[in-house]
Amino acid sequence: MELKAYLKEKAMLVEERLSQLLPDVTVPPDVIHRAMRYSCLGGGKRLRAILAMEACRAVGKEDSQALEYACAIEMIHAYSLVHDDLPAMDNDDYRRGKLANHKVFGDGVAILAGDALLTLAFETLSRMKGPNCGLVIRLIQEVAVACGSQGLVGGQAVDLQSEGHEVDELTLEYIHRHKTGKLFLAALRGGALIGGANDQQLSAITLYGENLGLAFQITDDILDVAGDIAKLGKVTGADVRKGKSTYVTLLGLEEAKNQAVKCVEQCKRYADGLPNQNILAELAEYVVNRES
Ligand code: IPE
Ligand code: IPE
Ligand code: MG
Ligand code: MG
Ligand code: MG
Repeated sequence: MELKAYLKEKAMLVEERLSQLLPDVTVPPDVIHRAMRYSCLGGGKRLRAILAMEACRAVGKEDSQALEYACAIEMIHAYSLVHDDLPAMDNDDYRRGKLANHKVFGDGVAILAGDALLTLAFETLSRMKGPNCGLVIRLIQEVAVACGSQGLVGGQAVDLQSEGHEVDELTLEYIHRHKTGKLFLAALRGGALIGGANDQQLSAITLYGENLGLAFQITDDILDVAGDIAKLGKVTGADVRKGKSTYVTLLGLEEAKNQAVKCVEQCKRYADGLPNQNILAELAEYVVNRES
Protein backbone atom coordinates (compact mmCIF):
# COMPACT_ATOMS: atom_id res chain seq x y z
CA MET A 1 0.00 0.00 0.00
CA GLU A 2 1.18 3.50 -0.76
CA LEU A 3 2.43 5.40 2.30
CA LYS A 4 -0.19 8.16 2.07
CA ALA A 5 -3.06 5.67 2.02
CA TYR A 6 -1.48 3.72 4.88
CA LEU A 7 -1.15 6.86 6.99
CA LYS A 8 -4.74 7.80 6.27
CA GLU A 9 -5.99 4.40 7.34
CA LYS A 10 -3.99 4.53 10.59
CA ALA A 11 -5.11 8.11 11.28
CA MET A 12 -8.73 6.97 10.98
CA LEU A 13 -8.19 4.27 13.57
CA VAL A 14 -6.69 6.83 15.94
CA GLU A 15 -9.54 9.25 15.29
CA GLU A 16 -12.12 6.57 16.03
CA ARG A 17 -10.54 5.63 19.36
CA LEU A 18 -10.02 9.27 20.32
CA SER A 19 -13.68 9.91 19.70
CA GLN A 20 -14.54 7.13 22.16
CA LEU A 21 -12.08 8.34 24.78
CA LEU A 22 -13.20 11.97 24.76
CA PRO A 23 -16.36 12.71 26.76
CA ASP A 24 -19.39 13.19 24.50
CA VAL A 25 -20.83 16.67 23.97
CA THR A 26 -23.95 15.59 25.85
CA VAL A 27 -21.90 15.11 29.04
CA PRO A 28 -22.03 18.23 31.20
CA PRO A 29 -20.46 20.75 31.25
CA ASP A 30 -21.03 20.52 27.52
CA VAL A 31 -19.04 23.64 26.64
CA ILE A 32 -15.74 22.11 27.72
CA HIS A 33 -16.44 18.82 25.98
CA ARG A 34 -17.40 20.60 22.78
CA ALA A 35 -14.16 22.58 22.95
CA MET A 36 -12.07 19.47 23.64
CA ARG A 37 -13.64 17.53 20.78
CA TYR A 38 -13.37 20.52 18.44
CA SER A 39 -9.58 20.54 18.69
CA CYS A 40 -8.81 16.89 19.25
CA LEU A 41 -11.00 15.42 16.49
CA GLY A 42 -11.56 16.03 12.80
CA GLY A 43 -8.10 16.92 11.64
CA GLY A 44 -4.41 16.49 12.04
CA LYS A 45 -2.03 14.02 10.48
CA ARG A 46 -1.87 11.89 13.69
CA LEU A 47 1.81 11.53 13.02
CA ARG A 48 2.88 11.21 16.65
CA ALA A 49 0.25 8.54 17.23
CA ILE A 50 1.33 6.63 14.14
CA LEU A 51 4.96 6.84 15.22
CA ALA A 52 4.08 5.39 18.62
CA MET A 53 2.32 2.48 16.95
CA GLU A 54 5.07 1.99 14.38
CA ALA A 55 7.75 1.97 17.08
CA CYS A 56 5.80 -0.79 18.79
CA ARG A 57 5.62 -2.71 15.51
CA ALA A 58 9.28 -2.05 14.73
CA VAL A 59 10.35 -4.03 17.78
CA GLY A 60 7.99 -6.88 17.10
CA LYS A 61 4.50 -6.43 18.56
CA GLU A 62 1.18 -5.54 16.91
CA ASP A 63 0.86 -1.79 16.43
CA SER A 64 -2.65 -1.89 17.94
CA GLN A 65 -1.08 -2.60 21.34
CA ALA A 66 0.10 1.00 21.41
CA LEU A 67 -3.21 2.56 20.29
CA GLU A 68 -4.26 3.77 23.73
CA TYR A 69 -0.83 5.26 24.33
CA ALA A 70 -0.92 6.85 20.88
CA CYS A 71 -4.27 8.49 21.68
CA ALA A 72 -2.90 9.94 24.92
CA ILE A 73 -0.02 11.46 22.95
CA GLU A 74 -2.46 12.99 20.44
CA MET A 75 -4.49 14.54 23.30
CA ILE A 76 -1.33 16.21 24.56
CA HIS A 77 -0.44 17.36 21.07
CA ALA A 78 -3.94 18.87 20.69
CA TYR A 79 -3.63 20.64 24.05
CA SER A 80 -0.28 22.09 23.02
CA LEU A 81 -1.76 23.44 19.77
CA VAL A 82 -4.78 25.01 21.50
CA HIS A 83 -2.49 26.84 23.91
CA ASP A 84 0.11 27.63 21.22
CA ASP A 85 -2.52 29.50 19.18
CA LEU A 86 -3.77 31.67 22.06
CA PRO A 87 -3.32 35.44 21.79
CA ALA A 88 -0.84 35.35 24.67
CA MET A 89 1.27 32.85 22.73
CA ASP A 90 1.41 32.74 18.90
CA ASN A 91 -1.92 34.50 18.42
CA ASP A 92 -2.97 32.43 15.43
CA ASP A 93 -6.57 32.39 14.22
CA TYR A 94 -6.52 29.22 12.14
CA ARG A 95 -5.55 25.63 12.81
CA ARG A 96 -6.18 22.52 10.74
CA GLY A 97 -8.19 24.51 8.23
CA LYS A 98 -10.65 25.90 10.73
CA LEU A 99 -10.80 28.63 13.35
CA ALA A 100 -8.50 28.15 16.32
CA ASN A 101 -10.15 26.95 19.51
CA HIS A 102 -10.12 30.34 21.23
CA LYS A 103 -11.72 32.02 18.20
CA VAL A 104 -14.72 29.74 18.62
CA PHE A 105 -14.94 29.24 22.39
CA GLY A 106 -13.06 32.24 23.78
CA ASP A 107 -9.68 32.35 25.52
CA GLY A 108 -10.91 31.09 28.88
CA VAL A 109 -12.56 27.94 27.58
CA ALA A 110 -9.62 27.32 25.23
CA ILE A 111 -7.21 27.40 28.17
CA LEU A 112 -9.46 25.02 30.08
CA ALA A 113 -9.92 22.71 27.09
CA GLY A 114 -6.13 22.46 26.83
CA ASP A 115 -5.86 21.74 30.54
CA ALA A 116 -8.55 19.07 30.29
CA LEU A 117 -6.95 17.39 27.25
CA LEU A 118 -3.64 17.20 29.07
CA THR A 119 -5.34 15.74 32.13
CA LEU A 120 -7.37 13.26 30.10
CA ALA A 121 -4.15 12.06 28.48
CA PHE A 122 -2.78 11.02 31.85
CA GLU A 123 -6.09 9.43 32.85
CA THR A 124 -5.95 7.47 29.57
CA LEU A 125 -2.39 6.34 30.30
CA SER A 126 -3.34 5.24 33.81
CA ARG A 127 -6.21 3.12 32.43
CA MET A 128 -4.11 1.20 29.87
CA LYS A 129 -4.99 -2.48 29.96
CA GLY A 130 -2.14 -4.16 28.08
CA PRO A 131 1.08 -3.18 29.88
CA ASN A 132 1.72 -4.31 33.46
CA CYS A 133 1.61 -1.76 36.32
CA GLY A 134 5.36 -1.20 36.32
CA LEU A 135 5.34 -0.40 32.61
CA VAL A 136 2.31 1.88 32.96
CA ILE A 137 4.17 3.93 35.57
CA ARG A 138 7.23 4.09 33.36
CA LEU A 139 5.12 5.28 30.43
CA ILE A 140 3.41 7.93 32.55
CA GLN A 141 6.82 9.15 33.68
CA GLU A 142 8.14 9.17 30.12
CA VAL A 143 5.26 11.37 28.98
CA ALA A 144 5.33 13.65 32.04
CA VAL A 145 9.04 14.37 31.68
CA ALA A 146 8.66 14.97 27.93
CA CYS A 147 5.85 17.48 28.43
CA GLY A 148 7.03 19.37 31.48
CA SER A 149 9.25 22.36 32.14
CA GLN A 150 12.31 20.54 30.84
CA GLY A 151 10.45 19.25 27.81
CA LEU A 152 7.67 20.68 25.63
CA VAL A 153 6.73 23.46 28.07
CA GLY A 154 10.39 24.39 28.49
CA GLY A 155 10.79 24.66 24.73
CA GLN A 156 7.66 26.77 24.43
CA ALA A 157 8.92 29.04 27.24
CA VAL A 158 12.23 29.70 25.49
CA ASP A 159 10.37 30.13 22.17
CA LEU A 160 8.18 32.78 23.77
CA GLN A 161 11.08 34.50 25.48
CA SER A 162 13.05 34.62 22.22
CA GLU A 163 10.36 36.40 20.23
CA GLY A 164 11.49 39.69 18.76
CA HIS A 165 15.20 39.04 18.89
CA GLU A 166 17.55 36.84 16.97
CA VAL A 167 18.77 33.82 18.89
CA ASP A 168 21.87 31.78 18.15
CA GLU A 169 21.65 28.38 16.48
CA LEU A 170 22.21 26.52 19.72
CA THR A 171 19.25 28.21 21.41
CA LEU A 172 17.05 27.58 18.39
CA GLU A 173 18.05 23.94 18.38
CA TYR A 174 17.13 23.79 22.08
CA ILE A 175 13.70 25.27 21.31
CA HIS A 176 13.00 22.82 18.49
CA ARG A 177 14.28 19.76 20.28
CA HIS A 178 12.07 20.61 23.25
CA LYS A 179 8.85 22.25 22.08
CA THR A 180 8.39 19.67 19.34
CA GLY A 181 11.07 17.03 19.64
CA LYS A 182 10.28 15.81 23.13
CA LEU A 183 6.74 14.74 22.31
CA PHE A 184 7.91 12.88 19.20
CA LEU A 185 10.49 11.18 21.37
CA ALA A 186 7.94 10.21 24.02
CA ALA A 187 5.62 8.84 21.32
CA LEU A 188 8.36 6.66 19.86
CA ARG A 189 9.98 5.54 23.09
CA GLY A 190 6.62 4.73 24.67
CA GLY A 191 5.57 2.73 21.64
CA ALA A 192 8.86 0.85 21.71
CA LEU A 193 8.54 0.14 25.42
CA ILE A 194 5.05 -1.27 24.88
CA GLY A 195 6.52 -3.36 22.09
CA GLY A 196 9.02 -4.82 24.55
CA ALA A 197 12.13 -3.11 23.15
CA ASN A 198 15.46 -4.14 24.61
CA ASP A 199 18.03 -1.50 25.66
CA GLN A 200 19.76 -1.46 22.30
CA GLN A 201 16.49 -1.11 20.40
CA LEU A 202 15.32 1.63 22.75
CA SER A 203 18.48 3.64 22.20
CA ALA A 204 18.14 3.24 18.42
CA ILE A 205 14.54 4.46 18.65
CA THR A 206 15.69 7.35 20.85
CA LEU A 207 18.32 8.49 18.36
CA TYR A 208 15.82 8.09 15.52
CA GLY A 209 13.29 10.17 17.48
CA GLU A 210 15.71 12.96 18.35
CA ASN A 211 16.60 13.40 14.71
CA LEU A 212 13.02 13.05 13.54
CA GLY A 213 11.71 15.69 15.94
CA LEU A 214 14.30 18.19 14.81
CA ALA A 215 13.70 17.40 11.14
CA PHE A 216 9.96 17.83 11.69
CA GLN A 217 10.24 21.27 13.29
CA ILE A 218 12.82 22.53 10.76
CA THR A 219 10.31 21.50 8.08
CA ASP A 220 7.55 23.31 9.98
CA ASP A 221 9.72 26.45 9.83
CA ILE A 222 10.24 25.92 6.11
CA LEU A 223 6.52 25.40 5.45
CA ASP A 224 5.74 28.63 7.29
CA VAL A 225 7.73 30.39 4.57
CA ALA A 226 7.29 28.17 1.52
CA GLY A 227 4.11 26.21 2.24
CA ASP A 228 0.63 26.45 0.77
CA ILE A 229 -2.00 27.82 3.18
CA ALA A 230 -4.75 25.63 1.72
CA LYS A 231 -2.74 22.46 2.26
CA LEU A 232 -1.31 23.49 5.63
CA GLY A 233 -4.60 24.64 7.14
CA LYS A 234 -2.77 27.39 9.00
CA VAL A 235 -1.64 30.85 7.96
CA THR A 236 1.87 31.11 6.54
CA GLY A 237 4.36 33.90 7.18
CA ALA A 238 3.36 33.89 10.83
CA ASP A 239 6.89 33.36 12.18
CA VAL A 240 8.32 36.43 10.47
CA ARG A 241 5.35 38.55 11.56
CA LYS A 242 5.93 37.51 15.15
CA GLY A 243 9.67 38.08 14.98
CA LYS A 244 10.46 34.41 15.63
CA SER A 245 13.89 33.10 14.89
CA THR A 246 13.58 29.94 12.82
CA TYR A 247 15.95 27.69 10.89
CA VAL A 248 14.96 29.68 7.81
CA THR A 249 15.68 33.12 9.31
CA LEU A 250 18.97 31.86 10.74
CA LEU A 251 20.30 29.69 7.93
CA GLY A 252 18.20 30.47 4.86
CA LEU A 253 15.78 28.15 3.09
CA GLU A 254 18.34 25.96 1.39
CA GLU A 255 20.57 25.33 4.37
CA ALA A 256 17.53 24.71 6.58
CA LYS A 257 16.43 22.03 4.12
CA ASN A 258 19.94 20.56 4.14
CA GLN A 259 19.90 20.30 7.92
CA ALA A 260 16.51 18.56 7.86
CA VAL A 261 17.75 16.11 5.22
CA LYS A 262 20.85 15.39 7.31
CA CYS A 263 18.60 14.51 10.25
CA VAL A 264 16.61 12.17 8.00
CA GLU A 265 19.80 10.38 6.96
CA GLN A 266 20.52 9.81 10.64
CA CYS A 267 16.97 8.57 11.20
CA LYS A 268 17.37 5.99 8.46
CA ARG A 269 20.65 4.84 9.92
CA TYR A 270 19.15 4.27 13.36
CA ALA A 271 15.99 2.68 11.98
CA ASP A 272 18.17 0.23 10.07
CA GLY A 273 19.06 -1.88 13.08
CA LEU A 274 15.48 -2.52 14.15
CA PRO A 275 13.78 -5.84 13.43
CA ASN A 276 10.91 -4.32 11.43
CA GLN A 277 11.96 -0.79 10.53
CA ASN A 278 11.01 -0.16 6.88
CA ILE A 279 8.07 2.13 7.60
CA LEU A 280 10.11 4.22 10.08
CA ALA A 281 12.66 4.99 7.37
CA GLU A 282 9.85 5.93 4.99
CA LEU A 283 8.21 8.07 7.63
CA ALA A 284 11.41 10.05 8.13
CA GLU A 285 11.45 10.86 4.41
CA TYR A 286 7.80 11.83 4.59
CA VAL A 287 8.42 14.23 7.48
CA VAL A 288 10.69 16.46 5.40
CA ASN A 289 8.84 16.08 2.09
CA ARG A 290 5.36 16.74 3.44
CA GLU A 291 3.22 19.65 2.27
CA SER A 292 1.03 19.81 5.37
C1 IPE B 1 2.09 21.20 14.30
O1 IPE B 1 2.20 19.81 14.31
C2 IPE B 1 2.75 21.77 15.50
C3 IPE B 1 4.19 21.57 15.56
C4 IPE B 1 4.74 20.94 16.53
C5 IPE B 1 5.02 22.15 14.54
P1 IPE B 1 1.58 18.90 13.14
O2 IPE B 1 2.00 19.47 11.82
O3 IPE B 1 1.89 17.49 13.40
O4 IPE B 1 0.03 19.18 13.32
P2 IPE B 1 -1.24 18.28 12.96
O5 IPE B 1 -1.52 17.44 14.15
O6 IPE B 1 -0.95 17.46 11.74
O7 IPE B 1 -2.33 19.30 12.72
C1 IPE C 1 4.43 24.53 18.06
O1 IPE C 1 5.39 25.13 17.28
C2 IPE C 1 5.00 23.66 19.13
C3 IPE C 1 3.96 23.24 20.09
C4 IPE C 1 2.68 23.41 19.92
C5 IPE C 1 4.39 22.59 21.30
P1 IPE C 1 4.85 26.20 16.24
O2 IPE C 1 4.27 27.38 16.95
O3 IPE C 1 5.91 26.47 15.24
O4 IPE C 1 3.67 25.38 15.55
P2 IPE C 1 2.65 25.99 14.49
O5 IPE C 1 3.48 26.52 13.37
O6 IPE C 1 1.86 27.04 15.20
O7 IPE C 1 1.84 24.80 14.08
MG1 MG D 1 4.60 28.37 18.76
MG1 MG E 1 2.40 28.35 16.58
MG1 MG F 1 5.47 26.77 13.11
